[in-house]
Amino acid sequence: MLNTLLLNEGICSVITLNEELLIASGGVRRVYRHPENPKICIKVDARKDGRGAGATLAEACLFEQLMERRNQMDFVAISNYRGRVETNFGFGAMFDLIIDEINGRPSQILMKMLENEPQLVETDRFKTALKRFRRDLVQEAVLCRDLRPWNICVQKLEDGGLRLILIDGVGHARKKWFERIKPFVQVKMHYYFFSKYIFPEKRLCEFYTKRRSRYSWKPGPLLSERLDQHDKADINL
Ligand SMILES: Nc1ncnc2c1ncn2[C@@H]1O[C@H](COP(=O)(O)OP(=O)(O)O)[C@@H](O)[C@H]1O
Ligand SMILES: [Mg+2]
Repeated sequence: MLNTLLLNEGICSVITLNEELLIASGGVRRVYRHPENPKICIKVDARKDGRGAGATLAEACLFEQLMERRNQMDFVAISNYRGRVETNFGFGAMFDLIIDEINGRPSQILMKMLENEPQLVETDRFKTALKRFRRDLVQEAVLCRDLRPWNICVQKLEDGGLRLILIDGVGHARKKWFERIKPFVQVKMHYYFFSKYIFPEKRLCEFYTKRRSRYSWKPGPLLSERLDQHDKADINL
């Protein structure tokens, strides 16, 4: 609403996104790098009607409520919401783009990491990151309905460590019902979602092998395999 008013006043303009800026497409959204700010990504609905239409606006509204409730305090384990924007593809929601510290490229999703290097799950650096992610997410005290591995980015840190960050699936369709539940029960439910999807680690591998067909995700040019292979070639030199 405010954006529309500002647009009419000529105060804020429409941001032009193009395929070169595409990071990835999920089941219902497309995610682009902000053309003027490489640390921000913009999510837009992939379709105007039907499945997933309106998902980006609903997510923006949810984050606006959450941020108000938290006095604008940033999340630690969830990618932070940075406001609304109008784009040539319609309504956009801005979030912190999760970037690998070692090369400044968008971080890969956990699902793809499992596909490329399944042994990662067994490493200490991954186990440490997973425990920290669970601890931080429980502390954020926001119920997250969808902790599946395509909604989690694995950020490579400068010191060789990993950080897991949730980039989608915050909130719950039956949120109203959840709000009436005592906080300690909510915490227990959070642990339940974790055990259902990703904890302990071997569940991750089962998830990857058994449910692969239900995974709808495509990398864009900014996250393509070719770049990774180029990286490997550089290392071999
Ligand atoms: N904040 C972010 N940082 C890095 N990559 C992101 C971010 N948000 C989304 N992505 C990428 O875009 C993909 C699709 O985004 P997502 O919000 O999960 O869309 P959908 O609602 O369609 O599932 C993600 O799986 C991830 O690869
Ligand atoms: Mg998703």
